Amino acid sequence: MPLLGLSVLMRRLPIVATCGLMLASCSGPLSTLDTAGRDAEEIAQLFWWMAGGATVITLAMVALMFYCARGPRAVNEQRAASWLIVGGGVVFPTAVLFVLLAFGLRAVPRLIEAPSPGHLRIEVRGEQWWWRVRYLTPDGPVDLANELRLPVGERIDVVLTSADVIHSFWIPSISGKVDMIPGRTTHLSLEPTRTGTFRGACAEYCGASHALMAFQVVVVERDAFDAWLSGQSAAATPPSTPDLQRGQELFMSNGCGSCHAIRGTEADGEIGPDLTHMGSRLSLAAATHANDRAHMAAWIAAPEHSKPGALMPPFEALGEAQLRTLSAYLLELR
Ligand code: CUA
Repeated sequence: MPLLGLSVLMRRLPIVATCGLMLASCSGPLSTLDTAGRDAEEIAQLFWWMAGGATVITLAMVALMFYCARGPRAVNEQRAASWLIVGGGVVFPTAVLFVLLAFGLRAVPRLIEAPSPGHLRIEVRGEQWWWRVRYLTPDGPVDLANELRLPVGERIDVVLTSADVIHSFWIPSISGKVDMIPGRTTHLSLEPTRTGTFRGACAEYCGASHALMAFQVVVVERDAFDAWLSGQSAAATPPSTPDLQRGQELFMSNGCGSCHAIRGTEADGEIGPDLTHMGSRLSLAAATHANDRAHMAAWIAAPEHSKPGALMPPFEALGEAQLRTLSAYLLELR
């Protein structure tokens, strides 16, 4: 008997595992159903109504199937069958699709609602395989990368472009996705409804490291946002110890500054991400690694290892000690 129970359990294991995985995907920083934005709430509501409707229709179909197979013979007569085909095959699907269309269209005006006057404007450019971020402030643009901070409860305009191929900007918990198309400018307006840290992803296959093109989104209160943005708009703090000074010298002498900018220094490259406040970021290499010394040193030594196809050349030749010093300098840029 226990053996029989075990074999039943083993047979049902795939179903249990599938249900477990499906339930696990209902929450977390990348979930469309664990909403943190007004647009995501609209989309999730539409999903639940469609999923509920589909369940009811499926159950009704199964019940009807059993009724036809086991019910009274009269149900199989020509006249009853014709009614069933017209009713169940034409009238019912037409009515259901019409209701769904009306329900879906009802959400559209809210999903494309423009931001309020004086709104925050952020430009995001997709590049293989990272995100160039620019905050447009009254005092001028502030260049960042791979991370967004947003004030809660405000409708924000995100201006989307691409430098190379088609990417797609998506923060599942906060809003829907919009493609970033080379040669065109697209817009996404979004409105975070609660504070927290969420994850964004590229939702369009864009090459070898498409799956490694993510970003962090931190939603904070307006005061904290203003403080953060004024910190990010400032120039980098000069190195405060001889060790950090050596790190900066390594950065300059190895030509890092011809691809990366560090405001307040002579490094003004525009090919790669701006590193002025690299140490304040939550992650490294477009949310691929934790932003710590070990990962930073490994990344500089061989970017290709963690992001196939990355444009940044390897700097293995620097050796362990110099990589450590360079990493320490970059992580002190807060
Ligand atoms: Cu960028 Cu996929």
